[in-house]
Amino acid sequence: MNLHTEKLQTEIEKRKTFAIISHPDAGKTTLTEKLLLFGGGIRTAGAVKNNKIKRSATSDFMQIEKQRGISVATSVMTFEYKGKLINILDTPGHKDFAEDTYRTLTAVDSVILVVDCAKGVEEQTEKLMNVCRMRNTPVIIFVNKLDREGKPPMELMDELEEKLDIRVRPLTWPIDMGMNFKGVYNLHEKNVYLFQSGKTQVEADRLLVDDLQSKVLDEKLGSSAKQLREDVDLIEGVYDQFSQEEYSQGTLAPVFFGSALNNFGVRELLETFLEIAPSPVKRETDTRFVEPQEEKFSGFIFKIHANLDPRHRDRIAFLRVCSGTFMKDRPFRHVRLGKNLRFTSPYNFMAQRKSVVDEAYPGDVVGLYDRGDLKIGDTLTEGEEFTFRGVPHFSPEIFKELINTDPMRSKQLDKGIAQLSEEGIAQLFIQDKGRRKIVGTVGDLQFDVINYRLEYEYGASCRFEPLSFAQACWITSEDPKKLKEFLRFKESKIAYDLEQKPVYFAETQWMLRTVIEDNPDIEFHFTSEFKTERATLPAR
Ligand code: G4P
Repeated sequence: MNLHTEKLQTEIEKRKTFAIISHPDAGKTTLTEKLLLFGGGIRTAGAVKNNKIKRSATSDFMQIEKQRGISVATSVMTFEYKGKLINILDTPGHKDFAEDTYRTLTAVDSVILVVDCAKGVEEQTEKLMNVCRMRNTPVIIFVNKLDREGKPPMELMDELEEKLDIRVRPLTWPIDMGMNFKGVYNLHEKNVYLFQSGKTQVEADRLLVDDLQSKVLDEKLGSSAKQLREDVDLIEGVYDQFSQEEYSQGTLAPVFFGSALNNFGVRELLETFLEIAPSPVKRETDTRFVEPQEEKFSGFIFKIHANLDPRHRDRIAFLRVCSGTFMKDRPFRHVRLGKNLRFTSPYNFMAQRKSVVDEAYPGDVVGLYDRGDLKIGDTLTEGEEFTFRGVPHFSPEIFKELINTDPMRSKQLDKGIAQLSEEGIAQLFIQDKGRRKIVGTVGDLQFDVINYRLEYEYGASCRFEPLSFAQACWITSEDPKKLKEFLRFKESKIAYDLEQKPVYFAETQWMLRTVIEDNPDIEFHFTSEFKTERATLPAR
């Protein structure tokens, strides 16, 4: 190994790039802040919190603007802890921005999924898990809010396994909950951490018990000691030992219990995470797999952020480094455009500050100033022609027709909506040879954002007319004749995405199912990247 490769290898092993995800309100923001405090990443609690859009403020544009501003700063949070470099990729808490979250998940190597112990698995938890499953992303589950009454832990374990469709293995176990919450038993280290509300846990709170029968447990835990012994017996009987391999393959999720608000169980989570979570791994492209250790740089864009100042058209593109070393000022190949680009002031996100970087390694995220060259999903390389897979568009859920209300400003409207869809705020579908524009999103809030930004950034004016579609599927067929026939026959329900791929719109899930059954030669896909996901609908 030469010095250069050795350095690259060390940098790769040092890095853990992940996202914390949850149904809104389960505690993602609180947990993120507590983890950052461990790394000394932020000095004041609340810095991440400001990034949230509260539900009550859904049409408060200032709030949206503020969120956009802060979310650039907190898009990636980097800190060092015990010799490791941790990159947390932030995901919007609001469910209306779920597609942004889904795409951010394409840029991480693992996730921590937060579940509220009283609510269990919620709608968004399941959707996020489905996205993780598409890429076999390793998942650690943190069951939060143990200081409140919740579902019995055994029941929660069954629910996690069933609804998330993944095998689970507890690594810590709660001793009572709610008002009586006493702490957690670490099944791996075989010790008990005692809970004290509002206090960061300290070594003195740790009870080492070589033997679960120890009298110390009865003294400290009272009657709960008996219950703990029974629980542990049951767990060891029911669950297999934790397997690193199965976790890495995304088929087994270790489970931790705690209370993010009280900073309880968070250190166990972080330390186990550092031990088991994968460092940057190989990634699939359309021609081959790319290993992070490869000497030549490659990476892809997973997020675009518009400049907050409408007088400046430049945007910030977030690049995930996948192999080799990214270097400032060096020309890199923009594969889609077939041209070279050079970045003079790329920056990273250490300690919440943007600072210019000279070099970045696999697992890192770099912010690039862009004047319109970059799109979500674009690949940059050191010359080789390939495109990273797995950065698809996801099927939107709400559809509205875009109506121009100021014909003198059509050009601005066209440009604005095209750029906003490149940023991933919405998806644009064109029907009737360009005469009809359909905008698809996952949440209503996005239409407010689009309207506002088209007006203030592009000087265009529009309104949205609701459409009664419930689902859009990309369609393909191995038989071009059959596809042509289908497109003609269903003309009123077909539109084209920005890459000219045909999309079929269905009014209801039931109708979609009928159309799928009636057209066995046509393939329907829920994401724009067909290899990964083929539409499967729940049984009737
Ligand atoms: P999110 O990002 O997943 O949406 O959740 P967030 O961390 O904002 O937490 C949602 C609410 O749950 C917050 O209360 C937060 O304080 C609370 N919470 C988080 N972890 C725990 C925990 O371990 N125990 C308890 N009891 N509560 C927890 P809020 O009232 O909505 O916000 P705030 O007014 O406290 O800021």
